[in-house]
Formats: sequence, C-alpha cells, structure tokens
Amino acid sequence: MCGIIGIVGLEGVSKLLIEGLKTLEYRGYDSAGIAVQDGSGSLVVVRRAGKLAELEGAVLEAEPFGRTGLGHSRWATHGPPTQHNAHPMVDTEGRLAVVHNGIIENHEELRAELVAAGVEFRSETDTEVFAHMVSAVVAGGASLPTAVRQCAERLDGSYALAVVSADEPDTIVVVRHQSPLVLGVAKGATMLASDIPALLVHTRQVIPLEDGDVAVLRPEGVEITDISGQAVNRAVKQINWDPVAVQKGGYRHFMLKEIDEQPAAVSATMLSRLDDSTGSIHLGDLDVLGDRLAKVERLTFVACGTSWHAGLAGKFYIENLVGMPVDVDYASEFRYRNTGAGPHHLIVPITQSGETLDTLAALRDVRSAGAPIAAVVNVPESSATREADATILTLAGPEIGVASTKAFTTQLVALYMLALDLAVRRGTMTHAEAEQRIIPLRRVRYAMEGALRGASHIAEVAQKYAHAQDFLFLGRGVNYPIALEGALKLKEISYIHAEGYPAGEMKHGPIALIDENLPVVVIATPGRVYEKVLSNIEEVRARDGKVIAVCAEGDERVAALANDVMEVPAVDEDLSPLVNVIPLQLLAYHVAERRGCDIDQPRNLAKSVTVE
Ligand code: AGP
Repeated sequence: MCGIIGIVGLEGVSKLLIEGLKTLEYRGYDSAGIAVQDGSGSLVVVRRAGKLAELEGAVLEAEPFGRTGLGHSRWATHGPPTQHNAHPMVDTEGRLAVVHNGIIENHEELRAELVAAGVEFRSETDTEVFAHMVSAVVAGGASLPTAVRQCAERLDGSYALAVVSADEPDTIVVVRHQSPLVLGVAKGATMLASDIPALLVHTRQVIPLEDGDVAVLRPEGVEITDISGQAVNRAVKQINWDPVAVQKGGYRHFMLKEIDEQPAAVSATMLSRLDDSTGSIHLGDLDVLGDRLAKVERLTFVACGTSWHAGLAGKFYIENLVGMPVDVDYASEFRYRNTGAGPHHLIVPITQSGETLDTLAALRDVRSAGAPIAAVVNVPESSATREADATILTLAGPEIGVASTKAFTTQLVALYMLALDLAVRRGTMTHAEAEQRIIPLRRVRYAMEGALRGASHIAEVAQKYAHAQDFLFLGRGVNYPIALEGALKLKEISYIHAEGYPAGEMKHGPIALIDENLPVVVIATPGRVYEKVLSNIEEVRARDGKVIAVCAEGDERVAALANDVMEVPAVDEDLSPLVNVIPLQLLAYHVAERRGCDIDQPRNLAKSVTVE
C-alpha cells in the first residue's frame, strides 16, 4: 500500500526522491518523508503529515543535499497519519533510517523487548522496531547487510524494507517478503521502488526481487543474497513501458486520461493475440500449460474489486462459449473455503497490479494443491506474473489513477479472448466460428471511441445528479458486472453510496429504496434481456425513481422512458460491457469533479492493496 523509493549515487537526490514519490503517490498518500545521506556524514530526515505537496514544500525550503536516500508515501496501518508516524523511521541516534511497506505482525512482542532494553519509541508504527533492531545489531559490530538479514529473520508478516545508514555512504540495504520491491540499474547509480513506474525516468533495466531476497545497492551495482547470506542470481529485465505514460499529458486527472486511453489499450491487448495472416486467435500465453489445459473440468476466477467484476463477465463468456462451469470468488474469501482445487481445476487470478496480497495468497494456496494457474495481469514482472504457471498480460500500460478504468476494459477483452481460445482448444467452437467473432472484436475500439464522444453530455447529466445521496445501478446478463462496476466507480471517487444489482433482482428488495430522490442508472443496450430491462425501467418509473439509461444511439423506446440517456454505439451483446462501462466511468468522474473530490487519490484508498 505504501510507496517506497530509494536512490544510490545520483546528485540532487532529494528532488529525485520527491519526483519518484509523485509517481508512487497512488499507493498511499496520508503522509510522506525522505531520508538523505548528506555530504557531512549525517542523515537528514524530513517528514510531513498530509499530501506529498506538504513534504515537497518542506524540502524546497531546506533541501538536504546528497546522492543517496530513501523516500516513503504512507497508507496508515498502525498509528494515525501524523508527522511522527510518517516514515522514514529512525533509530535513537538518528543515524539509521528505515522505510517500510507491509505489516510487521509481531511488532508488539519486538517492541516490548526493545522497551525492556531501554529504547524509547517515538511513533506508534509497527516499522519503528526494525530501525532499533538493526541499529542494535550494527552497534554490536555487524555490517549493515548482516544486521538487516539477522533482524528480518525475526519478523512475521509482510514487508519490503529499505535501510540507509549515515555510517555506510552510498549504500542502501533492502529486504523483501510478500510486499513488492523492484530494483533499477542505471549507469553509475542503482535504485529501488515499490512499483516499476517510479524507476522509468532513470532506467528500464529492472530486477524484481523475490521473497527472502536481501539486496545491497551501491552506485556500481547490486548484490543479492537470500536471508542466510547465500548469493542468488536474479535476472535483469527490460521494461517496455514508456516513461511518458506515467505523466498526465495535459489532463486534469490520470483517471480521465486513462478513460480516454481505453480504445488503444483494448486494441493492443487484442491485436497481440490475433494472427493477421489467418485471422485466427491464439493465446500463446497458455501454451506453457500443455496437456494440463485439456484435462481441466472447471474454472475459478479469483480477484478483488474491479478485477472481480471482470471475472463475473469472464464467467458469462466461458460458460456460454466453452460450456465449462465457472466460479468467481473474492480472493479474500476463496482462501478460507474448501474449494477442492486440484489438477483438473483451472485457477485464473485477475489482478491489474499483480501485487494484491489477497489474490496472491489465493494463488499460492492453490498452487500447492496442484491446480494449473493462468493469471490475467497488467504489470509485467509483478509477483503474480512470476508465480502463476501462465500469464495473460493485458497491455493497458501503467495505470496510475486509483480508480481502475483501462485495466478493467483490457481485462474484459483478455477474458473474452480466453473464452474463444479455450472454446477452440476444447472443440466447443470451430476456428471459423471463432474468426467470425473476431470481426466485431476488431471493430469494438471504434464503438468505444464513440462512447467517449458523449463525455460533454455526460458531464451535464452528472451536474444534474451530483447532489444525490444514493445511486442504484442496474444491469442484466453480461452487463450486471458493469452495473457493479459503475456503482464501485461512483462510490470510490465521489463518496456517494451506490449499489449495483441485477435488474431482475430489484423487485426482491432494493425496490423499497426507490423514490423521487433516487437516481437509478440502468444499462439498457440491445441483447437478449433488452425487453426485460425495459420492464425494469417501467418499475422504477412507476415509483418516481429517476432513470438514467445507457442505451444504443437513437433508441427511442428507452429515451421515452428515461429521464436522461447516455447513448453509446450499438455492438454485439458480448462486447457491450467494453462500451457500456465508459459512460459509467465518465459519470462517476464528473460527479466527483462537481463535488470537488480528489479524483486520483480518493480518501482511504490505495492503488495496490498489499495487506490482507
Ligand atoms: C478499482 O477501482 C479499485 N481501486 C480496486 O477495487 C482494485 O480493483 C482492487 O484492489 C484489485 O486490484 P488489482 O486488480 O491490482 O488486484
């Protein structure tokens, strides 16, 4: 959840750390800090509560000069987001500083030991224990890497920890266990970060660390060992993301930029799996599973949040096209059930970040049961890509807005292609039938562009309803997950209570909520449930509810029933979620903007949820 960054060997490191933290701020943004080795052999620590701008202001006033340092942006777990709980945490002498992402579960026991030995704590965080522990071992004569290894062995929980000491110039030591940590290698400098985007301005050569890795970063390179000190080899990977992709590029918010990027992102994800010469589809990503795929009898999607919504659409695709039973589980629930996962059960984790701890934990559990795992992931070289048997990489590029948009639509297209590929492999669809379905798929980006052209009208609709206290979102069939996603987007960024429901379920309870104050967003585009949805709209109208309908361009029947319409180009029903979600994303965006909310960094949330 928190963002950590470290740089070894670059002049003007304070400003570079702040710039890196800006790229990572989506991970946590309630307080921030840096620790810099200055030229005079001491450590300068600056911390501030609040947004990164507070820290930036303080650093500009009295910039610590140096070439090596650490930075942190926090998503509070232990202790409120105050300055004294902001990282870096320092030891008693202020000569050693630590930043941490994760949770040290046995911190109370460790704290008690340190207090008994006379240490005075200055924060309520779980992290501070590590600063004092390492400091004590170093004081006993150990080197910094040895001390980090020894102390990490005593920790329970999840952590990416980075340590800098005034007494070890141009050196940072890191250790990773179940929290993401990536190293970067550049000419005459090395760096670390929680996520790849923070490194791109310096290098595209990265080394993702694995659990139990301890790395020593110096300007000339990195040395990696396991927790016992044995050297380990970790490959340097080349990342193809463009550094420009992590900038706003003239947009007011990353979210709006990312909404606009969807047609291109969906196309890229799709085209990389199409054979232009034959027009056929092939998910080479799955080949590594070999015969195991043929033996699969059922499939389970495990995911959280928006990615879970994509899984619900995936269930619709796979059940319809492959005829295989599909479950969709919240990752946090899946692990605590007896799911009977085994070799005949394909597990498909879906995760934008590839670092969501609930999803990774579910993945790890089923791996030990021998189930084949094919993950749908957006971030290359993330933990999920490394730990799954096969990875279907979505090509959304870096997604910075906390509210997921382009990652979602690329997940949808990846899952549709997974269904087509499995259907052909398993003989429930001929190559020719699959190719017929590819034709509208290739064209869907134009329909998405058409939906984006409705943005200014949607801004007007948003203005009309921005004062509402609750919203209901209704959809049926493959658009039921889109109703859920529309509701999630609205509540995440505008803080309006919103619920998504299958439209046919409304009469079994939620209908009691309907009155003249309740806006009801209904997805009413063509498809097998179109007439049923029209009846549901009538039911809302009969109770004075305000209907905002997503409908096909020129649909006069819906227009006659609804108070407001958000029109989209008509497409094949299976592909309609890719188009229909766009007006809902824009509605949430413009409502949040009208209400003056912090769209890219909504309260209490973080982009990557790396705690259970
Ligand atoms: C989406 O808008 C959310 N911020 C959140 O629900 C997110 O989808 C969820 O935390 C899962 O993240 P992942 O896809 O990176 O695993």
